[in-house]
Amino acid sequence: MIDFTFTEEHKMLRDVARKFTDQEVRPRAAEIDEKEEAPLDIIQKAAGLGFLGVVFPPEYCGGGLGEIGYCILLEEIARGCNSTAVIIGGHQSLGAMAIYLAGTEDQKQHYLRPLAEGKKLATFALTEPGAGSDASSMTTTAEKHGDCFVLNGNKTFITNGNIADVLVVFALTDPQKRAHGGITAFIVEKEWKGFRAGKPEKKMGIRGSHTTSLFFENVEVPRANVLGGVGEGFKVAMQTLDVARVSLAAQCLGASKEMLDLSIKHANERVQFDKPIAEQQAVQFMLADMAADIYQVESILYRTAWMVDQGLPFGRESAICKLAATDAVCRVADRAVQIHGGMGYMREYPIERLYRDARVNRIFEGTNEIQHLVIAKTLTKKGTY
Ligand code: CAA
Repeated sequence: MIDFTFTEEHKMLRDVARKFTDQEVRPRAAEIDEKEEAPLDIIQKAAGLGFLGVVFPPEYCGGGLGEIGYCILLEEIARGCNSTAVIIGGHQSLGAMAIYLAGTEDQKQHYLRPLAEGKKLATFALTEPGAGSDASSMTTTAEKHGDCFVLNGNKTFITNGNIADVLVVFALTDPQKRAHGGITAFIVEKEWKGFRAGKPEKKMGIRGSHTTSLFFENVEVPRANVLGGVGEGFKVAMQTLDVARVSLAAQCLGASKEMLDLSIKHANERVQFDKPIAEQQAVQFMLADMAADIYQVESILYRTAWMVDQGLPFGRESAICKLAATDAVCRVADRAVQIHGGMGYMREYPIERLYRDARVNRIFEGTNEIQHLVIAKTLTKKGTY
């Protein structure tokens, strides 16, 4: 049996998230972008509604709404403000998710519960100045000293870097082995001596989501804060990214729908040559292409989220979702600007911000070139689709 309907709980979540976005998020989006400030008051309200732990089970104070619920949430939030969605994503899809996937029961009780409740924020520190797509070429080290590991090194381009309380940090414990057993994940608290976050970077888009460097200078991490076992860190990172890429597609879907709706409205209202431009076939074709992109992304996204919730393998499908949704949102953004004409280029209108916000999606959480590698590897390894 194939059933594409959302459960009553999922529909309720969508309605609450949509109302929250309409009332609290969208009206602030332009100001958040302009001031380049992380909207911590909105994040606090989102926490109050349980939005920061929607994906996790109730035993860890989560909403128990699974990946499907989480995608519904991020889709709605991203309709209103991409920066806000990215802050929630960096926290829930990456930092907290790594602890949920790889943490011991004690780690989940101690760290995941307050993260799911939104009392604390999380981040995921993998990328370094010399280690982007080639994540295992990192130089941050963790040396064993008695019952501690001592962290030294720098991370770069870290979402929530300066607002997170809990950091999942990846470091070399065996430089010879690297991706194959030489990288370990650690849970680090922001107050620990020797840790410091840099200033937010100046970015093209998602300017209310802070992206910073992180500096670790002889940070002592207790053995109990190793996440997923010594040498297992690269797998922890890859497994977390596999899940995160699904919900990133949901953010792109939300932003795409917002841009299509704005474009339909504009096309119906804007009169040229004595009729609304929506009556011009050239504009109709653009609207139709946007809708086709959105429907394709929506279809593969919720199918893949369902696979995650069913415990089925989904690594390739997640990479396909990331690739398809991030390419689609950029095409949609381009067409939205074109339909809006000169107004689409002006900062007074939301399309200009949405266009800038869209671009990073093809870069972060694994560039689209890396998604091609991940997908192709599954094909050549298996020898068939
Ligand atoms: N799940 C579990 N294990 C996995 C895995 C997965 N999805 N992918 C790889 N592994 C395992 C492999 O099986 C292998 O295990 P063995 O040692 O047992 O053989 C090990 O990990 C190493 O795998 P590879 O040989 O494939 O590793 P690689 O060095 O060739 O790298 C890569 C593979 C896919 C290119 C990887 O480096 C990658 O994903 N790069 C992109 C990094 C990325 O996404 N960065 C984004 C940063 S986070 C971010 O952007 C967030 C933000 O702030 C918004």
